[in-house]
Amino acid sequence: YPTKILYKDGEAAFSVSTNETITVSPEYIGSCLLLKLKKLAESHLGVPISQAVISVPAEFDEKQRNYTVKAANLAGLNILRVISEPTAAAMAYGLHKTDVSNVLVVDLGGGTLDVSLLNKQGGMFLTRAMAGNNKLGGQDFNQRLLQYLFDQIRKRYGSLPSRKEDIHRLRQAVEAAKLNLTFHNSSPVRVPLSLRTNDELGKVSTEEDGKTMVTLDEVISRELFETLNKDLFQKILIPVQQVLKQGQLDKYEIDEIVLVGGSTRIPRIRQVISEFFGKDPNTSVDPDLAVVMGVAIQAGIMGGSWPLQISAIEIPNNHLRKRNFN
Ligand SMILES: *[C@@H]1O[C@H](CO)[C@@H](O)[C@H](O)[C@H]1NC(C)=O
Ligand SMILES: *[C@@H]1O[C@H](CO)[C@@H](O)[C@H](O)[C@H]1NC(C)=O
Ligand SMILES: *[C@@H]1O[C@H](CO)[C@@H](O)[C@H](O)[C@H]1NC(C)=O
Ligand SMILES: *[C@@H]1O[C@H](CO)[C@@H](O)[C@H](O)[C@H]1NC(C)=O
Repeated sequence: YPTKILYKDGEAAFSVSTNETITVSPEYIGSCLLLKLKKLAESHLGVPISQAVISVPAEFDEKQRNYTVKAANLAGLNILRVISEPTAAAMAYGLHKTDVSNVLVVDLGGGTLDVSLLNKQGGMFLTRAMAGNNKLGGQDFNQRLLQYLFDQIRKRYGSLPSRKEDIHRLRQAVEAAKLNLTFHNSSPVRVPLSLRTNDELGKVSTEEDGKTMVTLDEVISRELFETLNKDLFQKILIPVQQVLKQGQLDKYEIDEIVLVGGSTRIPRIRQVISEFFGKDPNTSVDPDLAVVMGVAIQAGIMGGSWPLQISAIEIPNNHLRKRNFN
């Protein structure tokens, strides 16, 4: 539905036009999502759920955290604690129980990179510095591979695919190849395409619109994937160096490095980080689940499952602003 954003009394609202115009608050939309999750958890566990621990992005300020709590309250949840995502990820590795003091959390997803420097004092995690790049992630790595395939197609057939379905299939094949290259040294890419080709080039069948069906058949090596993305992988170190500088720490003072987000599975990215710090990052927890596991551990502590553990308390950092380096 078409949506307009309204501001009234210092608060935002969405004006949505259906057959009538309704006004809804962002926290109401948030509460619908949280209510769905609450119901899923209740049906899975077979018990009613009324209390929760919730995680938010590190850069959320007090007001954003308050509205997140408000959304949860509207969904019938009493929020026992709000913790930031990097703190949750550190807890997934049990770092709240160890004697580490400086933890670096690298979160690289589909489109953004967030780096946080945490400092543990007693049972408390303090976010000491944050930096990131909101235009760097898995999609950018796919784009490089897609561009390479386009170049190969042009070289071989003298034209480029134009059908939406072909472009879509190529995108899917690129994503599949990227995932496969995490486990294999090479990955096949095989995609049928409809192209306007020169006669002598490997054509299979002619369609009535003057185009020819061909099958793109390539093998992408991990080395090629790494070469195509060399500069992008190296860019990950920019916000890493920035948080160290902001936090006034030397890289050798980092006790543990925690990786979060699907793109941190890419072997070369792990290697770039290992080489920079001279030690391996913590990778035993699924990077897509690290945050939610940490939140669950915090909830378990607060619910009394592990009475002997101190729970992680966060000192809110109102003065910290995330900086972006593109
Ligand atoms: C708009 O559509 C909904 C669902 O079809 C209906 O319940 C509602 O009465 C309609 N509102 C108006 C003002 O026509
Ligand atoms: C957030 O909520 C707390 C507790 O309700 C309140 O004391 C504080 O003033 C709120 N802060 C903002 C910025 O809204
Ligand atoms: C992944 O790569 C391996 C080795 O090249 C290949 O045998 C396999 O078919 C590929 N799997 C997919 C889903 O592309
Ligand atoms: C990962 O975290 C644990 C603490 O839970 C630690 O003992 C381990 O040495 C860490 N480092 C690596 C590289 O796994």
